[in-house]
Order: sequence, then C-alpha cells, then structure tokens
Amino acid sequence: MKTIWKESTASTNDDAKLLAHNGAEHGTLLGADFQEKGRGRTGKSWECKAGEGLMCSIILRPSWERPYWGWIALLAGLAVVELLERDCLSPQIKWPNDILVNGKKIAGILTEASADAVIVGIGMNLNMATVPKVDSGIQPTSFLIETDCKLDPQSYAESVRRALISLTAVETPLLLRAEVTRRLAWLDERISLEIQKDVLFGEMSGLGEYGQLLLKTDTGFEEIFDAHQIRKI
Ligand code: BTN
Repeated sequence: MKTIWKESTASTNDDAKLLAHNGAEHGTLLGADFQEKGRGRTGKSWECKAGEGLMCSIILRPSWERPYWGWIALLAGLAVVELLERDCLSPQIKWPNDILVNGKKIAGILTEASADAVIVGIGMNLNMATVPKVDSGIQPTSFLIETDCKLDPQSYAESVRRALISLTAVETPLLLRAEVTRRLAWLDERISLEIQKDVLFGEMSGLGEYGQLLLKTDTGFEEIFDAHQIRKI
C-alpha cells in the first residue's frame, strides 16, 4: 500500500482529501513530521513540534453502507488502543474520537468524508517529555510520559494503518462492537453531553448499531450520533 511522507505540510487530512478525490486507493497513508495547520474536531487546531508526535491520515474506501461509517472513528480508536495495549498500557476510547491513557488524552481522531472515501486523521502525542496543562477538562499526556520510551512516528503510522486495515476488513463493524464497548471510558457511569448549546445527562450504556452513543436518561434512552463534548460527572 502506498505511503507518502512529508517533512512539512499544512494538514495531512487536506492532502488525503485531495488524493482521495483523485482516486487514491484504500489504505493510502499520508504523514508528516510537522503540520502548519493541523486540524482537530470542532474547529480546534492540532499543534505538535516535528518529531514529537504522530500526524497522519489514512484513506479508506469502506464496503459498508454509509450509516455504518459512523464506526470508522471508533475502529481507528480501537486500532490505536490495541497497539498501546501491546506496550502494556490500559488505554480507553473516549467516545467518539479520543484515546485516553490513565485518564489523560494521548491521541485524537478526525474523520472526514470525501465522496466515496473516508479520511481518518490521527494525531498522537509520542515523544514529548512534558505536555502543557489545559485550563479545564481532560489533561494531555504522551507515550514518552507514560512509558519512558520514544517511538518513531513513521513506523508507528505504518502499524496503525496495518491494524486499521485489518479491523475495517470485517464484513460488518457490528462484529467489533463488543471489542470497542469494553474499552469505552465511563461505560455504565453518569456523564454529561454537550450537543450544540444543550447539555444532556445520563448513564452511558453502550453503542448503537451505527456506533452512536446510547445514553440512559431519567426519561428513557437517547441515541447520540455526535456530541461536542462528553464529560464524566
Ligand atoms: C482531535 O482530537 O480533535 C482530533 C485531532 C486530529 C489531528 C490529526 S493530526 C493528522 C491529521 N491532520 C489533521 O489536520 N488533523 C489530523
């Protein structure tokens, strides 16, 4: 499978979108040592010094029907989680797109559809000896902080691609629902969810057919397809 690695680019997701538009094949990997305009979810930026993090995007052309594409961010999360578990860590997936280690964020995933392809952008803190504290919410961490070891971004990107290609080769993502669910942060616990300007409270009770979050509220069940922010309360 094709890999394109650059020293610097604006955003690997943007590079991947362009390539996908021009017909790049399933599994194509775009990576960079540095991004000038790395993007996160909900309009945030993703900033990382060269050599300190994994910044890559993988082009997928899933065979599943569109509604099941909601699983792709979760399966990318599972791919990263399974790799981290091999290094004896106990990572969790914070629905829908963050990876936590010891309750701190080590990686984030930004999936974007581009015609008949999905771009899976993965940003992971690898080799930072320290990370800046954030004012509120979940604090960041890095692979180096958690393990005392450094990782090579490009070879880790290749491992993530291999894992993701194998996970997304399943006939239906529902076969992996249990694997994802058991790694969810705050499963069966009370959480709050910000959906645009609303805040909902309830117990996280699992994942629906399309990867949506199932929330048990005081008035019944809700199926949440996307949320700005989920928090443990
Ligand atoms: C998030 O936590 O909000 C998601 C962050 C995703 C960042 C990655 S880095 C590689 C790819 N290119 C981008 O511009 N963003 C993603």
